[in-house]
Formats: sequence, structure tokens, C-alpha cells
Amino acid sequence: MKGILLHGGHGTRLRPLTHTGPKQLLPIANKPMSEYCIESMKEAGVKDIVIIIGGIGSQKVKDYYGNGEKFGVNISYIHQDFPRGISHAISLCEDFIGDEKFLVFLGDNIIQKSISVFGMEFEKSNAAASILLCEVDNPNRFGIADIKDGKIKKIVEKPKEPPTNLAVTGIYFLTPVIFDIIKRLKPSWRNELEITDALDMLLNENHIITYNMITDYWKDTGTPEDIIHANKTILENLSADFRGKMESTVSLEGNVSVGNDTLIKNEVKIKGPVIIGKNCEIYGDAIIGPNTSIGNGCIISGGKIKDSIIMDNCEIGKNVNIKNSIISSNSSIKHNNTQDEQIFLLGEGTKILF
Ligand code: TTP
Repeated sequence: MKGILLHGGHGTRLRPLTHTGPKQLLPIANKPMSEYCIESMKEAGVKDIVIIIGGIGSQKVKDYYGNGEKFGVNISYIHQDFPRGISHAISLCEDFIGDEKFLVFLGDNIIQKSISVFGMEFEKSNAAASILLCEVDNPNRFGIADIKDGKIKKIVEKPKEPPTNLAVTGIYFLTPVIFDIIKRLKPSWRNELEITDALDMLLNENHIITYNMITDYWKDTGTPEDIIHANKTILENLSADFRGKMESTVSLEGNVSVGNDTLIKNEVKIKGPVIIGKNCEIYGDAIIGPNTSIGNGCIISGGKIKDSIIMDNCEIGKNVNIKNSIISSNSSIKHNNTQDEQIFLLGEGTKILF
């Protein structure tokens, strides 16, 4: 089975983090979120993957994934001129797919469950599509499946009166029949060719869509809160792995992963789960964690950081007290004049000099 990974879109809900790159490259536990998708596709036996790129930072995606060799898959790229919808992005891949069944993965969807059994089931079935559903608390924010007697009857986008609480996740097993459907779709009120409309048209034309449930973790990481949540969840499975150097005065608690050439000194306390990249320097009376990811090359000279993501080459000074924050690469918060906890959402290269 071939695969399509969607790496375009506007990412407006994640500004300013998405001013300098695509949201799908934002790190969760020090790894771009779309890399989890590639791993999941590979594990399901999908080796030939086309990545849809578009807009800001498309070159960053190519630079990171290259031809896929480093990730054990073959990767090519298709450029989408403007985010005209998920169905539009899929339609660009008709020649790449040919007449095979295929898997589409939205690059901002994080799951933990293996999908390989679902893929094998789909290969054998005569369904036109198969989707993964997940129970949600707020069904009027999602595409929702209406199910009767174990069969999908209808798919509705953000219903005012949801027929179920089963959200359609961003992982779709499809057949080439979808290309003909997309050619006949009309743009939605937001001027996009919607995947929910394409799936609903399949049903209206008497095609079968089967489904499986994701009963553990699924997150569509559209907002900063979603990213902080996904980071916390992925870190729950972190294994302790210390490759740096530390003084005996440092205290480590819980699962902590530290990269090569990172130095931790003085009275620093780290409360896992925490992942820290390579070449960092952490000293003073810094307290880090829990649920925190720190990228490569960061200098942290004090303060408290919890439930946060600090990307590469950031500098955090003393007296800074951060929670639920996302701080993009090359940013610095030098000093702070309040002891209160603060939440920061900083785009790349931000300098905060109190
Ligand atoms: P969305 O989260 O629906 O849209 P977005 O990324 O533009 O974000 P926002 O609403 O904050 O502006 O997109 C779902 C996924 O599909 C995401 O991984 C981006 C991708 N996508 C494309 O690749 N092309 C498109 O035309 C669209 C609409 C989305």
C-alpha cells in the first residue's frame, strides 16, 4: 500500500509558532510530529510515501525528510499551491497512487496504537474506504460518524446536534474511487474540498466505508494546548537514558532522557518525565519538569519550567517561572521580575529581556 502524508495547511491556530515553518515539524518529545506519522505508516508496511507540502517552510520539510532513506521509507513530494482542502491535497496524488489502495495520514495527528492490523484488514476487504474513529467529549468540533447496526450511515462535519460522539480521525484507508468523487465535490463554506464531504458522497453512492476504533490516544494537534497535551502523553512512555554529564549535586527523579554532551550542574532538580537534547547546559537552581521537552543547544541558568516545550538553541535565565509554554528555536527569556507562573507562546527568534 502507498501512503500520502499531508504537510500543508495554514496552521493559523498555532501562530506565532507557524510563522516560520509548518506546524507538522513542531516537536513533540524532541521529534517533529509528522515523524510519528511516518513511523506509524512504515510500521503498517507503507514504504512509498508522497508528502504534500505547501506554504511557509516547505523547503524545511524537504531538508528534514529528504528522500526518506534515513527513515527507512521512499519519500517524494507534491506541492499544493494553496490549502484548498484535504480532498484537494489527495486529488493531487492520483498519478502517484495509480490503481492501488492507499493510506492518507494528516501530519498533525498523533496516535499511539499500531494501525498495521487495520491496514491488513482493509487490503482484504471490498470496502471503498476505512476510517478510524475515536470517542470525543466535544463532538460538535469534529467530523462525526453516524452509525446504525454497526454500519456507517452518514458523516457530518461539526454537527450542531451530533448523532454520536465518534470523531473521524485524520487517518484514512482509501481506494482510487475517491479520485472520481473528489472531481465532483463542491467547495465548502470555507472554500475547501472537504474530506468529510468526499466520504459522505461515497456513502450516498452506496459504497461501503468500514471503521475501527482508536480506544487509547488520538490527538489532532491544531492548538498550542493540543501540542502540550500530546507532549505530556508521549513523554509518559519515555525511558530513562542519560548520555550527558552531571555533577553529584544534581537531583534526578522519574524518567529522564538526556542527550550527548549535555552538562547539568549545581543544584539543578529534574523531575521526569523530561527529555533534554544534545549540547545543553543547565545550571544554577533550575527546576525542570515534569512533562517537559528541551531541544538541543539550550542554556538554562535557573528558573522553573514545567509542562512545556523549549525548542533548539534557547536561553532561559534565572527567576523565570514557566508552565504550559511553547518556546520556538533561538529564543531567549533572559530574566523575569515576577515569581508568578507564566505561560509563553513564542515564535522563532523571540527575545524577552525584562
Ligand atoms: P487543518 O488543521 O484542518 O488546517 P490547517 O493546517 O490549515 O490549520 P488552521 O485551521 O489552524 O489554519 O488541516 C489538517 C491537516 O491537513 C494538517 O496536517 C494540514 C493538512 N492540510 C493540507 O496539507 N492541505 C490543505 O489544503 C489543508 C486544508 C490541510
